[in-house]
Amino acid sequence: MIQVEELSKVYPGGVEAVKGISFEVGAGEVFGLLGPNGAGKSTTIGMLTTTVTPTSGSARLAGHDVSREPIEARSVSSVVFQEAVVDRSLSGRRNLELHARLWRIQDARIDELAESFGLEGLLEQPVDTYSGGQRRRLELARALISAPRVLFLDEPTVGLDPRIRHELHDLIAGLRVRAGLTLLLTTHYLDEAERLCDRVAIMHRGELVALDTPNALRAALGSEIVELHVEGEGERMLARLREYGVASDAAFAVGSTLTLPLAERGAAAAIAAIQALELPLAQISTRRPSLDDVYLQLTGGRLDEAA
Ligand SMILES: Nc1ncnc2c1ncn2[C@@H]1O[C@H](COP(=O)(O)OP(=O)(O)OP(=O)(O)O)[C@@H](O)[C@H]1O
Ligand SMILES: [Mg+2]
Repeated sequence: MIQVEELSKVYPGGVEAVKGISFEVGAGEVFGLLGPNGAGKSTTIGMLTTTVTPTSGSARLAGHDVSREPIEARSVSSVVFQEAVVDRSLSGRRNLELHARLWRIQDARIDELAESFGLEGLLEQPVDTYSGGQRRRLELARALISAPRVLFLDEPTVGLDPRIRHELHDLIAGLRVRAGLTLLLTTHYLDEAERLCDRVAIMHRGELVALDTPNALRAALGSEIVELHVEGEGERMLARLREYGVASDAAFAVGSTLTLPLAERGAAAAIAAIQALELPLAQISTRRPSLDDVYLQLTGGRLDEAA
């Protein structure tokens, strides 16, 4: 449903926002694009939705090339942008009606859509009076008016409280049940990617540094991790652990936390080896790998850290 080949974007001024990425998303799949601020996620969505012109490479939606057949490509897809696009002074209903008119949809079934997004009691109120979560639901409803086959969601839950995020997750997960709807969403939230996505691509500085199912990405780190909180600079301590052969190349440091994927090794043996070194450790623990670990290992930074 989505085919991306060697897609690049260099903005005027020379910022290489996207550096030749390739991936495919199958019909009905939920695909996550994960990455920190500035990774190139919105630029990628911009190119896929024809609002950003690619510098090179190609992208096709349901077979339609976004550069050569932009109208066809647009007609099969819909997008919920990172920034709000609904008109806050108008009512929810008016916003949906305007969007339906823009798309020349005669029978927009606004009430039906509003109901499926829990907006039925709010439609006549100005969007100004909506909470953040309600506005997001209105934007989702709006995006579905044109009955897209592919839906792009750019950071659908950013800035929402945990409960509202969970509600939105359920709504988004429900969207895939609609026959054939393919979803590509971007997020900073690893739990969101894990919960919603069949496959996840990790984007870092314009490149895809990993692409697989959340399970497979985690499995690449082995079944267990030793986490050390050290006193002082984590990187220096990691270098020492490497010298002693206790930490592998897969280990990484963020601040004063060291993460040591164990691969084949048993946790007890690893901990004994570390303790034998008598390093200034504040804390040592074991746990199962998470998508966070995968992300941190590949990008060397926290998700909320600017690239
Ligand atoms: N219109 C533009 N002109 C010039 N540079 C831009 C433009 N839009 C984005 N960029 C730059 O391109 C890079 C990628 O930005 P993009 O918005 O695609 O990242 P993102 O992954 O969506 O980040 P965020 O998580 O903050 O939304 C950044 O360095 C950004 O400053
Ligand atoms: Mg963005």
